[in-house]
Amino acid sequence: MVENKERLIDATKRLLDSGTSEEDAKQSMTEIGVPEHEADNIVKQAKKISAIAGKSIEDPSIAIVDKSDSMEGDFWGSNEGNFFKNRNFFKNKSQVKKTKETPNLLGNLMPSIKEDEPETKHATLKQYKYKKTNIRETIPVLVSDFDKLVDRRGLKKGDTILISGGAGTGKTTFGMQFLYAGAKQRREKGVYLTLEETTEKIKENMMENFGWDLDALEKEGLLAIIKIDPLTIARAVEATLTKERGGLYIEFEQFDLPFQFDLPFKPDRVVVDSLSALSIAFMENSQGYRQYLRHLFETLEKYRSVNLVFGETEQSPKIYSRHGVEEFLADGVIVFYNIKVHNSRENALEILKLRSSRHAKKLVPYKITDNGFEVYIDEEIFRED
Ligand SMILES: Nc1ncnc2c1ncn2[C@@H]1O[C@H](COP(=O)(O)OP(=O)(O)O)[C@@H](O)[C@H]1O
Ligand SMILES: [Mg+2]
Repeated sequence: MVENKERLIDATKRLLDSGTSEEDAKQSMTEIGVPEHEADNIVKQAKKISAIAGKSIEDPSIAIVDKSDSMEGDFWGSNEGNFFKNRNFFKNKSQVKKTKETPNLLGNLMPSIKEDEPETKHATLKQYKYKKTNIRETIPVLVSDFDKLVDRRGLKKGDTILISGGAGTGKTTFGMQFLYAGAKQRREKGVYLTLEETTEKIKENMMENFGWDLDALEKEGLLAIIKIDPLTIARAVEATLTKERGGLYIEFEQFDLPFQFDLPFKPDRVVVDSLSALSIAFMENSQGYRQYLRHLFETLEKYRSVNLVFGETEQSPKIYSRHGVEEFLADGVIVFYNIKVHNSRENALEILKLRSSRHAKKLVPYKITDNGFEVYIDEEIFRED
């Protein structure tokens, strides 16, 4: 219990350190179902520790290369925490009511649902069953040596990982390589949901840059690239919210939502490129965006695939998601940096958190080459300071 609360505190600390206002952090938490008094409490505790831990990688006093090869225990690494796994918990009105009356809410959410609590059993039956019967399979990411950075050598099916990075840092390359390698090496099925570039453009770029024949994979039924118009989604969500407003509680899953993707097959791997395009389409309607995001993460979770969701940030981001709620919802956060080293710029990635596995905690250099995204796990980034 304590541990799950710590997770929220940790994410909140990162948000505050990166300039998110207390109000926004609180709102993000309440929108994923944390009651206001708990959110207040979490912000208070995050503030206490943020003064010490609030330094960014731009700060020269921070050694950015961890020379040890050891995989450190991850703050988020416990498999016991069910808070995020049970995001859907809040779907049921009566439960929301119940938890509101319960003083220790976070504690109450977690054990996801004790067996001897019949009233919580109904709404969480799916997760419950899943928890008891399924040990989630790990599948390797297969992008260069990335898997060597993760103790379990891959990501767990059902995980949704947020990957944040600036324009040109290789997000699209990483995402497509993840699908391409999965299809080629393991015959796993991949879906690429593009909210930015057209299908044709992506195929053309991947062929020209890396020689990947995506048409051939599509013909084999191992890949589907689906173009989604973010404006259409934003308008539809807005219309639905306007219609529903006035009710005390927005029961989102009752809506006839767009973005219930009609996939041609059950995927093993899914990429969403990118949330930023979606966020921009929602413009000032951040409530609509956040609610939709929650719905999107829940939809992705149901596929039981490994999902990579991209977000575009600054080149050396201190803020990993525009609304913070992405970070609360994701099972992991990876950042792609573009760092100035002497007179040039170099790329490095960092696994900030990964719920499902222990992982390396250091900046790892990478490059885009003719072979695609290449990770150099034994090399270090040297900085001018
Ligand atoms: N074969 C290649 N060799 C070296 N660099 C490449 C090659 N192909 C593409 N690039 C570069 O890799 C970068 C990554 O692009 P991309 O994956 O589209 O990034 P993002 O999606 O983050 O904007 C681009 O700046 C592009 O110019
Ligand atoms: Mg891109």
